Amino acid sequence: DKDGHKHFMAKEIAEQPVAVDKALKAYLSDSGEIQMPEGLDFSKIERLSLVACGTAYYACMVAKYWLETIARLPVEVDVASEFRYREPPVSPGTLALFVSQSGETADTLAALRYMVDKVDVIAGLVNVSESSIARESDVVLPIYAGPEISVASTKAFTCQLTVLLMLALKAAQDRGLPLPEGMPADLRALPGLIHQSLASEAQIAAASRDLAGARDIIFLGRGQLYPLALEGALKLKELSYIHAEGYASGELKHGPIALIDDSVPVIVMAPRDALFEKTISNMQEVMARGGRVVLVTDADGAREASDGTAEVITMPQVPDALAPILYAIPAQQIAYFTAIAKGTDVDQPRNLAKSVTVE
Ligand code: F6R
Repeated sequence: DKDGHKHFMAKEIAEQPVAVDKALKAYLSDSGEIQMPEGLDFSKIERLSLVACGTAYYACMVAKYWLETIARLPVEVDVASEFRYREPPVSPGTLALFVSQSGETADTLAALRYMVDKVDVIAGLVNVSESSIARESDVVLPIYAGPEISVASTKAFTCQLTVLLMLALKAAQDRGLPLPEGMPADLRALPGLIHQSLASEAQIAAASRDLAGARDIIFLGRGQLYPLALEGALKLKELSYIHAEGYASGELKHGPIALIDDSVPVIVMAPRDALFEKTISNMQEVMARGGRVVLVTDADGAREASDGTAEVITMPQVPDALAPILYAIPAQQIAYFTAIAKGTDVDQPRNLAKSVTVE
């Protein structure tokens, strides 16, 4: 049941502090050790291949960023429907990781089966533990999100990211590399930070009434926020049926900037991190062409860059590595409230199924 919420999606968005806390507690001991199932020894792994579909694929894109920067491991990320027919060559020392909320996605399962006997370890990162992907993996990493009913993935995404970040920290540990400052202790702040960011709801609901009138909407992000731009656009498309695209900020001038005029809202995801100024300069190029910018940033970012924007959504200040998890919340809320403003079916968008068990 919806627990007093209007939609399962609203309930599942609101559940994220608790869901993420559960995922954290499953892998982070009281003494601050990351504990993962046996069979995941990264001192013997030389590269990773991550495969998934849709939102789970975007979680993998963020994980690539973490595994490369934190654990210095080369990572390839593929959408399962492409991977399975490409018959990619596999090098020894590969860990293949399949990410799926349902654990039943046909393309992801087919990609897993292709990798059997070709890689050192097959790992499945799933929400449903009694699923085909879980059964056919050597190592299972449950995300503990609890049942996700709404077709659009929300709490499964943030729980996937949380477990993937811990996986990157574990990989760094196994490889004798120092963890980023404050890690893993800072992970414990995550549920509270998510709870805090849920409070932007009213502000996002107001901004979404304007977004609902747009024909096209663009999301921009850079570095680990680039996959969040893709996720924001996917969620908006599937729920509100508005055409939306996510781009890496730096790609803007290689084509998409031609789309910008005063009818196109542009949502910029930019915490005040090392890449902030680069993203903001792309944002200014958008504003110079009349684009209506909604800037999602933290208090420092808002102080520095809110001039000329149509709207600023202020997020809590976070340690760098946690930003993609936190910025998932406004991405979800923008899609949710824009769909409400348009009157579309939030929990059961047209043409979509929760679990895609045919290709
Ligand atoms: C988007 C969404 C889909 C799924 C995709 C993979 O909101 O829900 O894009 O993420 O179909 O599903 P799983 O994770 O079950 O393999």
